[in-house]
Amino acid sequence: MDAYRRVLMKPIGLGIIGCGGICSAYFGGARTYDFLNVVACADLVPEAARAAANEYGCEAISVDELLARDDIEIVINLTIPQVHAEIALRALEAGKHTHCEKPLAVTLEDGRKVVEAGKAAGLRVGCAPDTFMGSGIQTCRKLLDDGLIGRPIAGTAFMMCHGHESWHANPGFYYLPGGGPVFDMGPYYITALINLFGPARRVCASTQRTFETRTSTSEARNGDVLPVEVTTHVAGTLDFACGAIITMIMSFDVWAHRHTNIELYGTEGSMHVPDPNGFGGTVSTATASNRMEWVEQPHTHGYEGSRCIGVADMAMAIEHKRPHRCSGELALHALEIMHAFDASSQTGRHVELQTTCERPAALPVGLKEGELDAS
Ligand SMILES: NC(=O)c1ccc[n+]([C@@H]2O[C@H](COP(=O)([O-])OP(=O)(O)OC[C@H]3O[C@@H](n4cnc5c(N)ncnc54)[C@H](O)[C@@H]3O)[C@@H](O)[C@H]2O)c1
Repeated sequence: MDAYRRVLMKPIGLGIIGCGGICSAYFGGARTYDFLNVVACADLVPEAARAAANEYGCEAISVDELLARDDIEIVINLTIPQVHAEIALRALEAGKHTHCEKPLAVTLEDGRKVVEAGKAAGLRVGCAPDTFMGSGIQTCRKLLDDGLIGRPIAGTAFMMCHGHESWHANPGFYYLPGGGPVFDMGPYYITALINLFGPARRVCASTQRTFETRTSTSEARNGDVLPVEVTTHVAGTLDFACGAIITMIMSFDVWAHRHTNIELYGTEGSMHVPDPNGFGGTVSTATASNRMEWVEQPHTHGYEGSRCIGVADMAMAIEHKRPHRCSGELALHALEIMHAFDASSQTGRHVELQTTCERPAALPVGLKEGELDAS
C-alpha cells in the first residue's frame, strides 16, 4: 500500500479561499495526505486569512494573488453559498481546478455554468460533501453492493434540528437563498443516497417557511434578528432510478426527535446508515435470514478523518486521469434535487429531474487514513 501513497511524487499545490468556520477542517484534513500542500489562503477579510495562515503555516494573500499563483493547482472554495459560483468561475478562468463547499451554487443555472465552464476548460470541478467517502457510508455501500439486504426498495432520511443560530458566529446565511435545511444539510443526505443508489429520477414535497425571523443566541451574534427567506421545514419523497423510494424530512424547526438519520429497506432486510455529516458511525443490519435481529457490522473501510478526502481524490484523479468521486455532475444533480422540493410544493406536482450523474466508484477495501489509490 505504501506504493499507493507515493503515486503522486510531487505534492499538488492547494489554495483556500474563505477562512471562516469550516476552514480548519480542510487545513487539518490536507495534512492527512503527503501529496497535498496548502500553499496559501485568502479571504474577503484579510485578518481572517492572516489568522488561518499563522495557525496552519501557509501564506495569506489576496484572492487575486491566489488565483494568479503558478504553484496552486486546486482552489478550495470555502466561502458562503451566495458566492460559491462566482469564486468557482473565477478559479476556472484562472486555469485552476476547483473544489467547493456545498452547495455547488445557489441557483441551478449557476451550478450548470460552473460544471460547463469546468468541462470547456478541461479542468476538474468538485464539491462537498466528501463524507460519503468515509468508513461508515463506504461500509454501507459495500454491504449493499454485496446484496446483504437484497434489492433496495425504500428508505428514510431525517435531518431535524432547530437551526444553527445557537452556535454559529455568522448564522445569517443559513436563512438566505442557498441556506435552509435542504441546501445546508440536504447535500450530506442526498449525496450519500446517490452514492448508495445511483441517480434519482423525481421528487415530490410539501415545504414551509415556519418563522418570519430567527433570533441568534450564539456568542458572537447574540440577539441579532435574522430574516428568513427560505423554507425551513421540508417533507418529501425522492424516487431513485433504481426503484428505491426515500421518505425525507429536512427541518430547522424541530427541537427534538428520535428518528435515525438514514435507514434503507431491501427485499432481504434493512440497514441503518450512520450520520452522513460524519465519516464514521455505526452500521447495522437486520436481515430475514438472521430472524430480523439487528447486528452491528464491522467497518470494511478505514477513513474516519476530516474533510479533504474529496480534494485528495481529485488530486489522485488528475494524476491518474480517472474520474474524481465528488464530481461537479454529482453536485449539480444534488442541487437540482434540492430545488425540486420547493418546486414540487409550489406546483403541487412531482418534479421530473433533468440532470443525472454517474454513481461514484466505491473505494477499494483496505485503504488506511492518508491512502488513496489510482482507481
Ligand atoms: N461551519 C460549519 O460547520 C460548516 C460545515 C460544513 C460545511 N460548511 C460550509 O462551508 C461554507 C462556509 O461556511 P463557514 O461556516 O465557514 O462560513 P463563515 O461565514 O464562517 O466563513 C466564510 C468565509 O468566507 C469569506 N468570504 C465570503 N465571501 C468571500 C469572497 N467573495 N471572497 C473571499 N472570501 C469570502 C468570509 O469573509 C468568511 O471568512 C458554507 O458553504 C457552509 O455551508 C460549513
